[in-house]
Amino acid sequence: MGKKYNRKETPSLFDFIKTDSYDVNKTPKPTPVLSRHLEKQIDPLSWVLGREHNKENFQLFEDVGQIYELQLAKMEYESFKENLALFRKRTAYFKIVNGRKTYHYFISKVKGKGQIGHTNQYITHWFYPYKGKFHGQMIKAIINFMGATGEEIILDPFMGSGTTLIEASIVGTKSIGIEINPALCIVSQIKLDSLRINYPEFEKSIKTKNLPEIFKYFNEARAYLSERKWEMEVNNQNAKDILMELWENHFPNSFVKEYPFEWRNLLLLIYLHALSDYTYLKGTNKEKSFEEFFYINFEEYSKTLKGTYETFKKLSLTPKKYTVILGSALNLPLNDSSVKGIVTSPPYSIALDYVKNDLHLLNYLGIDTSKLRNEMIGLKGRKNEKVVMYEKDIRRSVEEMYRVLKKGSWAAIVLGDVVVNGKRTDFREKIIEWAPQIGFVDAYAMKRPILGGFARLRYEHILFLQK
Ligand SMILES: C[S@@+](CC[C@H](N)C(=O)[O-])C[C@H]1O[C@@H](n2cnc3c(N)ncnc32)[C@H](O)[C@@H]1O
Repeated sequence: MGKKYNRKETPSLFDFIKTDSYDVNKTPKPTPVLSRHLEKQIDPLSWVLGREHNKENFQLFEDVGQIYELQLAKMEYESFKENLALFRKRTAYFKIVNGRKTYHYFISKVKGKGQIGHTNQYITHWFYPYKGKFHGQMIKAIINFMGATGEEIILDPFMGSGTTLIEASIVGTKSIGIEINPALCIVSQIKLDSLRINYPEFEKSIKTKNLPEIFKYFNEARAYLSERKWEMEVNNQNAKDILMELWENHFPNSFVKEYPFEWRNLLLLIYLHALSDYTYLKGTNKEKSFEEFFYINFEEYSKTLKGTYETFKKLSLTPKKYTVILGSALNLPLNDSSVKGIVTSPPYSIALDYVKNDLHLLNYLGIDTSKLRNEMIGLKGRKNEKVVMYEKDIRRSVEEMYRVLKKGSWAAIVLGDVVVNGKRTDFREKIIEWAPQIGFVDAYAMKRPILGGFARLRYEHILFLQK
């Protein structure tokens, strides 16, 4: 028999672990005492909120399980704990605040393709399958930590598919996204505009019977678009203007052109999504015809639009203003000390060929890819020269971030831990080394393990730099 439990002493956690077994006949079960004791020791919520919190009134989502998530939950809570009504609207990791379900609970219930719990792909995040997307929930918590509200601006200088802007706009903060790839500017603008579509009107007008004609229209436009090679300058143009120009000068006339701007853009995005599915799923057991993908995606997009419309209406939530700009992170079209926070993720060294990944999309829109390659960070140069150019560009982009940040504000940079030719490229160390040289006063690195996903990527790092 193992060592007996001595009930006269209040057990410490350590004693409990050391005890192998109990004599159930002689010793009363210590569970009630121990469970309360253990809870105080290890309950993540009491670490986030402090020991004295009212347990009935607060709850984290059940899938908040990693250390970085708890750290972010604590950080977002610390920023808004004086205004719990606002915190309930903004929080990313809490399911219940002040006894009431949070906005994120309802928003993340608008499920999208490929969604995992409350972390990603909810509302319009899943529109267009862009590889290398952020997780919306994590971004929301980082924006909250920065404490930006109302007219203050959150910037993403490597916007990609617009995750930061979507999260900023639904927590009620203004945002600006800069991206060098015009196709992604278009995708992000449409995903953002779709948050505001009046679904009942859209449903009434775009009857299912029109779908084959809509599909045919975009198919025919394809030949037309590629014939008229689209010269694109990185000139800080607004994505809305790019889309208007696209419709005016590059798409042929048809009934589709008479739909409201946001609607025909959305139909274009559904077509582009089907094009991506068709390209990537050909030869797999999920293969379908291009047209079938278009119809399936139309149905799925409609469900998301309906869910988003109804949820936002119920919560009286109107997305805040956002601006998408075709520009470069190396030369930001913004004034010094003008933004409240930066949440971004530069290309992960040379791990992903962003042009190759989206070639079908770029070709459809008739965009000159050789020119784009010469401008994109991580794709410039050949072999060894590539890493040197990458380093130079990343440093320049961090200097630009410093310039546009307000004093005291933070930049959060998400970076991959990538192995190239058997060598690990650790840009986290580099950026931390540069930070004081550039002028940042504080730096903190958080580690996020990647479970599944890209086999080459084991971790991401979230670097927090304060001006
Ligand atoms: C890791 S991805 C960002 C993904 C984004 N966080 C999301 O959730 O979709 C990096 C992006 O940087 C863009 N990029 C590359 N060079 C750039 C430059 N000089 N200026 C701005 N964006 C650039 C790439 O086109 C790519 O979309």
